[in-house]
Amino acid sequence: MSTLATAFYREQEFVDVLYIVAFSLFIYGLMGLTGPRTAVRGNRIAAVGMAIAVGATFLLPGMGNNWGLIILGLVIGTAVGIPSARQVKMTAIPQMVALFNGVGGGAVALIAWAEFIESSGFDGYELTFVIPSLFAAIVGSISFWGSLVAFGKLQEILPGHPIGLKGIGQQVLNGGLLVVAVGCAIAIAAGGTSDILMIALLLSAAILGLFVVLPIGGADMPVVISLLNAFTGLSAAATGLALENTALIVAGMIVGASGTILTRLMAEAMNRSIPSIIAGGFGGGGAVAGAAGAGEHAGTVRSTSAADAAIQMAYASQVVIVPGYGMAVAQAQHAVREMASELEKRGVEVKYAIHPVAGRMPGHMNVLLAEADVPYDQLKEMDEINPEFSRTDVALVIGANDVTNPAAHTNPDSPIYGMPILNVNEASSVIVLKRSMNPGFAGIENELYFEPMTSMLFGDAKGSVSEITQELAAL
Ligand code: TAP
Repeated sequence: MSTLATAFYREQEFVDVLYIVAFSLFIYGLMGLTGPRTAVRGNRIAAVGMAIAVGATFLLPGMGNNWGLIILGLVIGTAVGIPSARQVKMTAIPQMVALFNGVGGGAVALIAWAEFIESSGFDGYELTFVIPSLFAAIVGSISFWGSLVAFGKLQEILPGHPIGLKGIGQQVLNGGLLVVAVGCAIAIAAGGTSDILMIALLLSAAILGLFVVLPIGGADMPVVISLLNAFTGLSAAATGLALENTALIVAGMIVGASGTILTRLMAEAMNRSIPSIIAGGFGGGGAVAGAAGAGEHAGTVRSTSAADAAIQMAYASQVVIVPGYGMAVAQAQHAVREMASELEKRGVEVKYAIHPVAGRMPGHMNVLLAEADVPYDQLKEMDEINPEFSRTDVALVIGANDVTNPAAHTNPDSPIYGMPILNVNEASSVIVLKRSMNPGFAGIENELYFEPMTSMLFGDAKGSVSEITQELAAL
């Protein structure tokens, strides 16, 4: 073997070793993300892994012809990525993830397109290169355009309600687009070299991405984003196979597998099937079958004051705080922590009941409460806290609605029927903090508000909690 060839293989082997170090760090970092205590460290470890993977890629034989462009790309990406990630509000994380995820899918589709242009078609290439490249082009393009729609809906640039044809018409159109994309892919794999084939493939996949996500209600977007995330991961893994780049294969498969698992867990926690989410029509302010509008209920609602709420809780032995989306909107987590400290000073035991889909993204409540330094051992998962409500004096519901709605157990016509909920109605007293009788994400009335043990404290959650704390301090 010539000295040059030996140097080439040594360099390749060194890069492979660095890649193995990088995946080990990805996996170790991911393990850290399973708990709030270790999450920040896990994120940093995975980021170091990614830095090693990027650095190792620069050492690949043949790199270095386009250093100017590579450095320009890195500078632009860093200049856009770091400030936007630092400034994003916690409630806007889902759309940020959608955007970052979409860019990944778009990059993968562009790589396939660039390879096609560079080699003037894939004629004469091994199928082990051609099939993953074309798969990546289709799925990456769907993911990019679908993610842009998800971003637009969550950012309220696009209307949140379902847009597009309904039911079978939409499905036929989507099926037709998929047939066009796959047909173009087959023609390219069979030796077609026309640029029009690749452009038609990318375009039909792009329209398919738009058409799949537009009819889905804005509020279902977190699940859709997680699904698109899985798609991006799979398309990146396919590109890795085509380019024989192990780092891309492993990272893509990790994203694909974790996105798939997360999608399933979210759908299960909402008692919805993934096909029913994709079929659209739920959430985002659209009309919902079985929903009752505010004010249609025959019962009466009892309102209370901050002073009464403070007295009830001050003399309780256990108070369970049930946070929801409204606490996130009001940014009330620090005020909640102060109120809990005031209660603890009086010997009241305080716990937090965390529903898996409270808020608008997985772990939303855990992140907010951790930010306010609420001790982790006070955060109780649904299965752990539900048996405790029957021996709880006061359940304080702060901006949570659907996750406490007993209709999930009692009303088979309700869109949330079967969704596991927090059984707050088993507590001796329930105090609900929200601004009005308006419904939550599912657009349905909450029977809990009409129960005899429930009283409502109307107002912005942060203001109401601060008032309760002042009243407690004055007792
Ligand atoms: P929701 O059912 O959406 O209820 C939130 C409540 O907060 C609303 O009823 C609203 O009532 C109140 N609110 C809003 N702003 C407020 C403020 N500034 N102060 C006080 N209250 C305020 O929330 P939830 O109980 O957390 O349930 C989450 C829902 O989102 C579930 O249906 C779930 O399936 C869905 N979802 C969750 C996820 C994930 S992963 N978490 C993903 C997709 C969908 P007012 O307007 O009257 O104040």
